[in-house]
Amino acid sequence: MEHSSLDSSFYQAADQFFQGQGGTALTYDDVTLATLYSEVLPRDTSIETTLAEGLSLHIPLISADMDTVTESSMAIAMALNGGLGLIHCNMPERQQLSEVSRVKNNVHGLIQEPIKVSPEQEIGDVLELIEQKAFAFRTFPVVDESERLLGLLPGHAVRPRYAAVRVLDAMTPRKLVQTIRESELGADPIARADQFFSEHVGMHKLLVVNDADQLRGLFTISDIERILHERHAQLKPARDSQFRLLCGASVSATRSSSTGDLDRDRIVAHVTGLVERGADLVAISTAHGHSRGVGEAVRFLRSEFPTLPLMAGNVTSGAGVAYLAECGANVIKIGQGPGSICTTRVVAGVGIPQLTALYVAAKAAAAHGVTLVADGGITKSGDIVKALTLGHSVMCGGLLAGCPEAPGQIIEINGKLYKQYRGMGSLAAMRAGSAARYGHATKDTARKLAAEGVEALKELSPPLDTVLLQLTGGLQSGMGYLGARNLTELRSKARYIRVTPAGQRESAPHDVIEMKASGT
Ligand code: XMP
Repeated sequence: MEHSSLDSSFYQAADQFFQGQGGTALTYDDVTLATLYSEVLPRDTSIETTLAEGLSLHIPLISADMDTVTESSMAIAMALNGGLGLIHCNMPERQQLSEVSRVKNNVHGLIQEPIKVSPEQEIGDVLELIEQKAFAFRTFPVVDESERLLGLLPGHAVRPRYAAVRVLDAMTPRKLVQTIRESELGADPIARADQFFSEHVGMHKLLVVNDADQLRGLFTISDIERILHERHAQLKPARDSQFRLLCGASVSATRSSSTGDLDRDRIVAHVTGLVERGADLVAISTAHGHSRGVGEAVRFLRSEFPTLPLMAGNVTSGAGVAYLAECGANVIKIGQGPGSICTTRVVAGVGIPQLTALYVAAKAAAAHGVTLVADGGITKSGDIVKALTLGHSVMCGGLLAGCPEAPGQIIEINGKLYKQYRGMGSLAAMRAGSAARYGHATKDTARKLAAEGVEALKELSPPLDTVLLQLTGGLQSGMGYLGARNLTELRSKARYIRVTPAGQRESAPHDVIEMKASGT
């Protein structure tokens, strides 16, 4: 037997492998990928992915629409690193709209709400403010009540000996303050600010004003230098055609409390608001996407918004993918019960281990021209490589919930730092509004519901960009081992083989005393 045919009888392509499992469902750790001849170095691989027409990401990672994972800070950081944040909807609609606006209006490096002082204050008041708030800076823009710029209070004037001097008498007056119009920032505000600081030796701050000379923001030379330095190491931001960061948001398939029918007007009004604020993708996330309510919601959103990228889910069958695709979804979320905080399989006895679910879904997705998100159960970068042999992107909750950019306070327990992470089907999250996602009416939350998620903690992790660099670095290594230049090649080249529990033990560090845990 030739070497290569022996290889292919063990290391099988997706169809042969998954269909040959005799009806057994497999997940990430059940399987390993075979290495293949490669001329590809990890750093030369492209991990760009297209979710829907006109919506591409530089990295195939999406942060989950969960109330302990994605609000504007996470979505901004995800997009700055080339991915996408999906802002959860467990908050009043108006608040969610302003979270989306924050992402779409974010100018990286621009402090959009700088601390200002008024001309009538005394330097002593400013010194008090600095002490109270522990500010590390002493230069402040001076504005009137309508935010019009009057001058700049320089750091060298903010000293106790001038405590009784009015800001008005100590500031550099408006006509001597260098500013830039918001409209002149152009497509790359960082490059524009960098040019300004190079041309104006000794200046450390650049104020941004609008046409009415109202203060709109502030660049500092140290932020600009840090960002330019990081740009070499970091991934490219994911932006729309107007150079704004990409942002997704989820909506709930709300039902009218009187009739129990889908509240079409309310859902359409909600999505209209999101679209007006620039959302690039809207998701209907539910625990059971292959259901009439979700299908109807997708159908009427598709008819109201013919070109808006729509994500829907979750499903784990080919029929579920076909149903949502026929209703008009572009991106289908796969995953029932794999999440780190999920108890759906325990509580309801349903759900499919993730790799088999992805395989079955991928066949239908290819037939219907839609893309797949592997949602939940990703615990390490190797899982991302495996997921992307079948899907087009992955959605992570637990892997990102410990980052400082996730919502919520840092909690200290016995000297260790944590952040809260909870399932959207946990009682606390459903009481806060996510009951519809699990097929319950909000009023049901008054009585005892069967929770399908737990409330948990994650250890505080490094900032998101560090975590993403580790995850994408692992993905690129995997692609190098398979000789895959891009994600399309990864999908076609992948060869799978099952591993036994002994093989799984062999796959992780063993028979050593670990002194330092690896990053992911
Ligand atoms: P990871 O594993 O990344 O999973 O933490 C995140 C995904 O889990 C789903 N999710 C839930 N599933 N009960 C469930 O059965 C829940 O309470 C719950 N909350 C979130 C969701 O798809 C998310 O993206």
